[in-house]
Amino acid sequence: MRVARIFNLISAFALFACVGTAVAADPAQPAATLTSADCVKCHEQPPKDIAAAGGKHKTEVTCQDCHVGHPPKVKKPIPQCGQCHEGKPHFKLQGCLGCHTNPHTPKNIKFGNNVTDPCLTCHTGQIEQLRSFKSKHSALNCSFCHNVHGRIPDCTQCHKSHSAEIVQKDCKVCHQAHKPADVSYKADTPSKFCAACHKKAFNLLTASTAKHSKLACVYCHQAKHKMVPQCTQCHVKPHPAAIMAKFPKCGECHSIAHDLNRWSEPAAAKPAAAPAPAPAAAKKAPVKK
Ligand code: HEC
Ligand code: HEC
Ligand code: HEC
Ligand code: HEC
Ligand code: HEC
Ligand code: HEC
Ligand code: HEC
Ligand code: HEC
Ligand code: HEC
Ligand code: HEC
Ligand code: HEC
Ligand code: HEC
Repeated sequence: MRVARIFNLISAFALFACVGTAVAADPAQPAATLTSADCVKCHEQPPKDIAAAGGKHKTEVTCQDCHVGHPPKVKKPIPQCGQCHEGKPHFKLQGCLGCHTNPHTPKNIKFGNNVTDPCLTCHTGQIEQLRSFKSKHSALNCSFCHNVHGRIPDCTQCHKSHSAEIVQKDCKVCHQAHKPADVSYKADTPSKFCAACHKKAFNLLTASTAKHSKLACVYCHQAKHKMVPQCTQCHVKPHPAAIMAKFPKCGECHSIAHDLNRWSEPAAAKPAAAPAPAPAAAKKAPVKK
């Protein structure tokens, strides 16, 4: 190995001496030209990396498009990314190689968990939401959650669910990742999801015998969390105006939406309507005491 290295080194200098002087020294000799196919003879890793994951740096450019010249003639034949990449905000970032850690595998990208601004050179919608809808997520860096480019984390990676019935795929029924405190939901959201935090309302409503108990929470509390409907949104003029003028609040007679008063409760339940005593018994004993 060592021998081979030394040999390579020697032949490198021989080669470059040759390249550098051949034309002037002996015009009859064909110039020994270094091609991209030669590089692998002395540089093992870069050709390997490019072959494995070079992407467009493999297909759209050659070694020598980037490395123009070679030591000793050209001391540092290392290109600037900006030679070829310009005209987009992304290309104005500092430290390209901080993320594109190896120019020979340009799509292998690594970054720390404190990156936000560079993401904004390509993604803008998310920061707009994070800023317009202030939440504790607004204070986090993008890469705190997306620690590998393109990876979408599960909410449950960082949070406990509200109940065993609500699982990862359900979180977005109510929350959006970039505005999580702005809770809203669709008309098919099951009431058991609300029950995770509103046991009392859920139990009261499901125990009630009034027709409201058949309705889903979100049928009344529509779309946005903490929305509370007016009775008259659904029951337009339920009673004559004169009654309503005297008793302006529905609750005075109907109690609350989750547990409506029911005057038309089955009559059998009331003592006043108990069945009359059997005729035989009535004869034996006085009816009144
Ligand atoms: C015969 C062996 C040999 C061949 C072939 C060869 N190189 Fe080199 N290369 C070397 C040696 C030795 C050095 C170190 C020279 C020095 O540091 O002065 C070097 C240095 C370099 C450097 C500079 C590295 C640095 O850290 O500054 C680059 C880039 C480079 N080579 C690219 C290439 C490319 C591209 C090719 C093919 C077009 C190529 N080399 C072909 C032997 C070779
Ligand atoms: C898109 C441009 C680009 C292409 C194509 C490219 N390189 Fe490089 N190469 C670079 C840059 C930039 C660096 C400096 C990396 C650094 O500073 O960490 C580099 C570094 C090197 C080095 C020195 C450091 C090391 O990794 O050993 C060698 C040798 C090298 N390249 C060889 C090659 C060879 C051989 C090829 C073709 C198979 C090639 N490069 C293709 C941009 C390129
Ligand atoms: C000699 C020209 C040249 C240089 C220097 C160069 N690139 Fe490229 N790069 C290209 C071309 C050409 C493409 C393909 C067209 C495009 O995407 O713009 C490309 C594509 C890329 C891609 C997309 C790769 C893919 O497979 O989709 C990345 C990432 C990239 N370059 C990063 C860099 C970085 C980082 C540097 C500096 C370390 C750099 N390039 C230096 C020419 C260059
Ligand atoms: C904070 C990390 C980061 C930094 C710094 C960074 N990039 Fe990128 N770059 C990315 C990510 C992430 C992508 C998207 C890759 C994808 O599409 O999968 C990307 C994509 C690219 C692409 C391909 C897509 C395109 O728009 O053409 C090129 C070229 C590129 N970067 C060049 C550069 C250059 C040049 C620099 C320095 C001026 C740079 N990058 C700095 C993270 C970074
Ligand atoms: C150079 C442009 C560029 C940069 C910089 C960039 N991205 Fe991307 N990102 C893309 C592209 C292109 C896609 C693929 C888009 C697609 O598939 O719809 C993508 C995809 C994503 C996805 C997956 C989208 C999905 O629907 O699955 C996430 C998440 C993401 N990027 C987050 C980030 C974060 C976080 C950063 C900063 C650390 C970042 N990106 C930096 C261009 C970029
Ligand atoms: C990588 C970790 C991480 C992921 C993934 C994550 N969060 Fe968070 N979330 C946090 C942190 C950290 C806080 C702030 C906690 C604190 O300060 O108490 C937070 C706070 C919240 C808050 C409270 C917001 C406020 O302003 O009060 C909600 C709601 C929330 N997250 C929902 C979600 C949902 C839904 C998802 C999935 C779409 C999710 N989170 C994904 C880390 C994460
Ligand atoms: C608290 C964790 C967290 C933070 C911080 C965060 N994201 Fe996301 N991001 C997610 C989750 C979770 C999803 C998946 C949302 C879904 O499936 O509906 C997502 C989705 C995405 C997507 C895919 C498209 C979309 O909008 O749904 C992109 C792109 C993205 N995020 C970029 C960013 C950028 C850029 C930032 C910083 C400005 C950022 N994210 C901040 C957790 C986060
Ligand atoms: C049925 C709607 C709904 C679903 C589904 C839901 N959430 Fe929530 N979440 C809420 C409401 C409402 C709040 C409380 C908002 C408030 O306090 O004003 C909340 C608050 C949070 C908070 C803030 C801290 C706390 O516990 O009060 C986190 C974190 C959170 N949810 C994460 C999640 C995760 C993770 C999932 C999925 C496993 C999820 N949520 C599913 C409605 C929902
Ligand atoms: C993560 C727990 C959580 C979940 C899940 C949840 N809520 Fe709430 N909800 C709260 C908290 C906390 C409050 C505020 C209580 C307070 O201020 O006393 C609240 C308040 C309310 C209020 C009262 C607003 C007011 O003005 O008094 C309504 C109505 C409500 N929620 C309906 C729902 C509905 C409907 C669902 C299901 C789609 C739901 N909630 C899911 C935590 C939750
Ligand atoms: C979002 C619509 C909606 C809201 C808001 C609403 N209700 Fe209802 N209510 C209904 C529906 C639907 C029924 C069942 C009608 C049927 O099946 O005939 C009903 C039935 C009733 C009944 C008859 C109950 C029975 O068992 O016969 C009463 C009384 C009533 N509502 C009173 C109220 C009062 C009082 C409020 C306000 C505290 C209210 N409602 C709010 C939709 C609503
Ligand atoms: C028929 C419509 C209707 C349905 C169905 C309904 N609510 Fe309500 N809810 C109301 C109304 C109207 C109020 C305001 C208080 C009142 O007048 O009864 C209210 C008040 C509330 C409040 C605040 C006061 C309190 O009781 O804590 C919460 C929380 C709440 N509802 C949660 C729920 C949940 C959870 C469900 C499903 C289990 C649900 N609601 C089903 C109409 C409804
Ligand atoms: C003075 C007491 C009183 C007030 C105030 C009152 N109601 Fe009633 N409501 C009744 C009575 C009594 C019935 C008949 C009950 C029965 O048949 O079981 C009734 C029946 C209803 C019914 C059922 C009608 C049907 O056809 O089944 C609805 C809906 C209703 N009320 C809604 C409301 C609404 C909404 C308000 C407030 C705007 C309101 N009520 C105010 C006493 C009242």
